[in-house]
Amino acid sequence: DLPAQVSVYEVSARDGLQAEPVTLPAAIRVELISRLAATGLSTIEAGSFVSPKAVPQMADTRSVLDELDLDSGITYPVLAPNRRGLEDAMAARAQDIAVFVSVTESFSRANLGDSLEVTTARNRDVAAAATSAGMRVRGYLSMVFGDPWEGPVEPSQVVGAAGQLLDAGCTTISLGDTIGTATPGHVTAVLQALIEADIPVEAIALHTHNTYGQALANVYAALQSGVSEFDASAGGVGGCPFAGSATGNLATEDLLWMLDGLGISTGVDIRAVAETSQWLSRQLGKPLSSATSAAIVDQ
Ligand code: HMG
Ligand code: MG
Repeated sequence: DLPAQVSVYEVSARDGLQAEPVTLPAAIRVELISRLAATGLSTIEAGSFVSPKAVPQMADTRSVLDELDLDSGITYPVLAPNRRGLEDAMAARAQDIAVFVSVTESFSRANLGDSLEVTTARNRDVAAAATSAGMRVRGYLSMVFGDPWEGPVEPSQVVGAAGQLLDAGCTTISLGDTIGTATPGHVTAVLQALIEADIPVEAIALHTHNTYGQALANVYAALQSGVSEFDASAGGVGGCPFAGSATGNLATEDLLWMLDGLGISTGVDIRAVAETSQWLSRQLGKPLSSATSAAIVDQ
């Protein structure tokens, strides 16, 4: 049986915008988030407290949080890669953070500037400190299904990395198909390995990229294994600036079209998301990649 209800974790304002050549000012990012909030989405990632040299698109995340109603019942997580990021997140009154580690050595160095051992220890420390301060922490794993430098990734590596983040206090582990090479059978195999290792399926989310057109097929495979939280980005905007081959995220409206068709409830208004994507497309000055958006909104 497929889950009756699914949570959509919206990443356009962070994962989406961080990969765009155009840096949108804080006020436009606030408008994007407010428009997304009006669609019924209950979790909207709002930015990153990372080095502005590494990711200039996420500079001013503090100004973005200052403009949001953090007590509205909508969750606005922010990325925090180290103690400095955690302190900045706390100062901005964030209640939810996300830490992010790679399951591969090469991407740890490319994205986080240090070895897997060092970055994993740093992120576990941040997760534990945030948890003891009463914050909720999501743990992202990158390169779960393949790495541009190292090739295929063993499911046992994923199980080990997920266990470490859960032990550090993370409530959810988001499995990142950072370069979009996963196919449904592979998704099922990784999920089976996690479930067999007693990692609760309720604690697992899937973060797909549509690089090879497999994102929705991968979501369907994960639904069949009981996963009920999926990351998506309005209009399919985004990728990752530190993994050259990572193109678009799964578009939120494409995900919603499939879930609506399956009778799975999300509480999100697909048309309102598609209209937000069209607005975002104008802000970025480029067409977005969502098939659903193009089909249901008059251009
Ligand atoms: P580092 O070079 O190892 O750290 O960076 P450092 O301590 O040597 O600091 C370097 C510079 O960054 C210093 O500035 C620090 O002050 C500054 P400088 O002295 O050169 O002027 N700095 C900071 N500034 C603001 N906030 C901070 C902070 N920390 C250091 N928190 C670090 C390590 C991780 C900080 C850096 O490499 C960085 O910020 N990288 C960006 C990582 C990132 O945001 N990646 C994208 C998100 S992950 C992703 O997209 C994947 C995901 O979507 C899932 C998937 O698809 O797989 C989640
Ligand atoms: Mg991503």
